[in-house]
This record gives sequence, structure tokens and C-alpha cells, in this order.
Amino acid sequence: MAEPDVKNGPEDVAEKLSKLTMGDSKVEADDDDFVDPWSVASKSATGIDYNKLIKKFGSSKIDDELVTRIEKITGKPAHHLLKRGVFFSHREMHGILNKVEQGKPFFLYTGRGPSSNSMHLGHLIPFVFTKWLQETFDVPLVIQMTDDEKFLWKDLKLDVAQKMAIDNVKDIIACGFDKEKTFIFKDTEYIGQSPAFYQNMLRVQKCVTFNQVRGIFGFGDSSNIGKIAFPSIQASPSFSSSFPQIFEGKKDIPCLIPCAIDQDPYFRMTRDVAPRLKYPKPALIHSTFFPALQGAQTKMSASDPLSSIFLTDTPNQIKNKINKYAFSGGGATLEEHQKNGGNCDVDIPYQYLTFFLEDDERLAQIKEDYSSGKMMTGEIKKTLIEVLQPIVKKHQERRKMITDDEIKEFMRPRKLKYDYSTKK
Ligand code: TYM
Ligand code: TRP
Repeated sequence: MAEPDVKNGPEDVAEKLSKLTMGDSKVEADDDDFVDPWSVASKSATGIDYNKLIKKFGSSKIDDELVTRIEKITGKPAHHLLKRGVFFSHREMHGILNKVEQGKPFFLYTGRGPSSNSMHLGHLIPFVFTKWLQETFDVPLVIQMTDDEKFLWKDLKLDVAQKMAIDNVKDIIACGFDKEKTFIFKDTEYIGQSPAFYQNMLRVQKCVTFNQVRGIFGFGDSSNIGKIAFPSIQASPSFSSSFPQIFEGKKDIPCLIPCAIDQDPYFRMTRDVAPRLKYPKPALIHSTFFPALQGAQTKMSASDPLSSIFLTDTPNQIKNKINKYAFSGGGATLEEHQKNGGNCDVDIPYQYLTFFLEDDERLAQIKEDYSSGKMMTGEIKKTLIEVLQPIVKKHQERRKMITDDEIKEFMRPRKLKYDYSTKK
């Protein structure tokens, strides 16, 4: 079966790659790497070759010039995830920046497919960055919770998927989004009460054939028909006309979508369809994957608990998982490590620090000390533990403070605090 499979863990890598050589799934096949919205696998210990992926997907690399332009326009230093190349690829970011320069509006759209009660550290990446974008550009944001997607793909009852969506919404709110400028919606609830959204779904559905989604997503003869129609649901929030209550009926407000690169197939399809509907194509900004504890061959995935540090983990669980499972690029023996140093390119503790340690100087020092063999594996793990424990703890404290009323307010279809009539 060509159907993308939802499992995802290191033990899956061989299976994924063998599928490729069998020519079973033509989705994003390559000799070494596999990336689609459901799974990520690489043969290489250094993980996915992201430059190759840019070529294959036909997106653009985020270069120094783009980062400098963002800094110039916003008058703020770039976020560390942007400076360090975690956000590494884009589609038409310059178009969005042109709008900003002209004083014209845009909006942000991102989402989450609630497949577990708890989100993991990797899921924080797009949301942390989206929060920075919202704050920096002062724009409205819509967040789609695709409980319908997880119902269709996983062995989950609808009410369980719906409940997970609300649990995940708490984690998302805890990232600090502006309540007056953020609309979070659950597909199973919002779509049924929004004619405009449903009408856009229909328009998208009419433009895309089964043959096309089979090519993009690898659907097959035994895929349920909900899956085949689902891409139109993830496409529709890219269009401002899907949210008349927010955009005052305007159909031409452009959209910027921050997400990890696995979601790109949905939006390649969306960008293909947009001009036929006379809507602007959504722009995108893509991140790399936060790797699994066991190594960069695969992404951190909630379906494989041992690969992940969850936002619900206790300080002790975080410590034990890192000490026990985090793949080390250090030497096999003390002598070897002191002689040859550690390999930061494959070392998971170092990789995680590049995502979560904001202090540039300290990170550079760690890289130097670890690569030269001066810093031991135990020490770099300890450093990571000390960085992550307070981040997760603070997240849990913020999450605990979120009330049901607050969740309701974020999820209420309403006008956001943003005046389109004053914008050109
Ligand atoms: P989901 O829930 O699988 O993932 C939510 C967001 O997190 C990103 N992500 C990661 N980023 C870095 N490292 C990882 N290990 C990692 N794992 C997941 C995903 O790329 C995504 O940005 N169908 C979507 C929900 C959705 C959506 C959207 C996402 C609906 N509309 C628009 C982004 C933009 C889903 O199930 O994502
Ligand atoms: N399809 C994504 C997944 O299963 C979830 C998702 C929906 C999403 N809309 C999105 C992710 C927009 C990023 C951006 O992983």
C-alpha cells in the first residue's frame, strides 16, 4: 500500500527507506531521506540533508540577506531560531516583507494535529517562533486544531481526538499568544458553524483531482475518503475569506504560515490552487525538525514516547531521558574523547542546545569545548538538563494558570483587535 503510515520512530526508518527503494511511495522519495506530513526518516546520523530538501521541494533558502532584511524592517535582532538556521527555508517571504514596508496587512496561520494529550519539545518550535512573529509584526493569527485529521488517520475515537485538541490548546496558549489577536479553532466544531470556511473547502476540492493528491500525499485505493478530502481542510485557513468575522469580509489579505517542513506538501497544493480561486498564495517559513533523543535520523514524535521529552515531563524524567537515551557524539572512552573531541553534528545534547540555549556566546563556547574534547559528554548532558528543566517547568506553571474561560475566549469566533479599514 502506498499509504503514508502514522508510525514514527527509529525502528521505522528501515521500513520507510525500503519503501522508497521499492518505489512504493513516490511522495518525497530520495535515496537517503524521506519527509512527508506523517513521517521523517534519514539514513544519515547527521539527519535530513536540508539543502537537498529545498531543491526537491522547490522552496528557497533563508540566506543572510533575508535575515538582515527582517532585522532592518522590524528594527529588532532576529530570533535565535532564525539566526541559527532552524527556520531555514521559505516561500515568498520577500512578498510579505514588501507588504509590511508598504504598510499593508498580512496574517499568520499555523496549526497542530492533536494526536496525544501532551505536546513535546519539537512542537514548541513553530509555536515559539509564531509567537515572536505575532509580537514583532503585530498581526492577527489563526491556529487550526485538526482533530478531524487525527480521527481519520489514527485509531482514535472522535471524542478522544476532540479532548486532546483542548489539552493541546492549553499548551499552545501557554506559549504566550495575544488573546485579542489570536483565534484558535477546532475543525470538528468551527467548520460546521462557518459557511465561508466550508465554501472555501468546496472550491479547493473542485480544483484538485484524486490523481493529484495521490501524487502529493501517497494516498491509495484503500485510503478512506476522509483522508482524500482532508487536504482541502488544511488549505482553507490560508485564505482570509474563510474568516469573515476577523477580516471584515476581505478576500485578499495575504497569509504567512510558519511550520516545520513536513507540512509543506499541503501548502504546495494550496499555492497551486490559490490563483484559480483568485486568492493570494500563502507564503511559508519552514523549520527543520527537532530530532528524536536517539538521533537525527528521525524527528521527535509523540507516537514514540521514548523518542520525546514531553511538556508534561517532571525534572527527573527529563534528566533520566537525557542521560539514558540522548545520542552522544562523544568519544567511546575518556582517552578517545580527550584525543578526538566530540562530534557536535550528531550529538543530540548539542543539537538540543542550539534550539533552546539562547545565549550565543555560551553556545559557541560549548561547541568549542566539546569539539576539542575539553568538555565531557556527562557535562554537556548536564548543561542541557539545566537548560531544559526550567523551560519545561515554567511552561507547566503557565499552563496550570489557564482557565476554561480563557480557552473559550481564544476559541470564540469573533473580530480580533485589528482594524483593516485603516490599512491600505
Ligand atoms: P502536528 O501536530 O504534527 O505538528 C504541529 C507543528 O509542529 C511541527 N512539528 C515539529 N517541528 C519541529 N520538530 C519536530 N520534531 C516537529 N514535529 C512536528 C509541525 O510541522 C507543525 O508545524 N496537520 C497539522 C496541523 C495543522 C497545521 C496547519 C500545522 C493544520 N494547519 C498549518 C501548521 C500550519 C499537524 O498535525 O501538525
Ligand atoms: N497536518 C499536520 C500534521 O499532521 C498538522 C497541521 C494542520 C499543520 N495545519 C497545519 C501543521 C499548518 C503546520 C501548519 O502534522
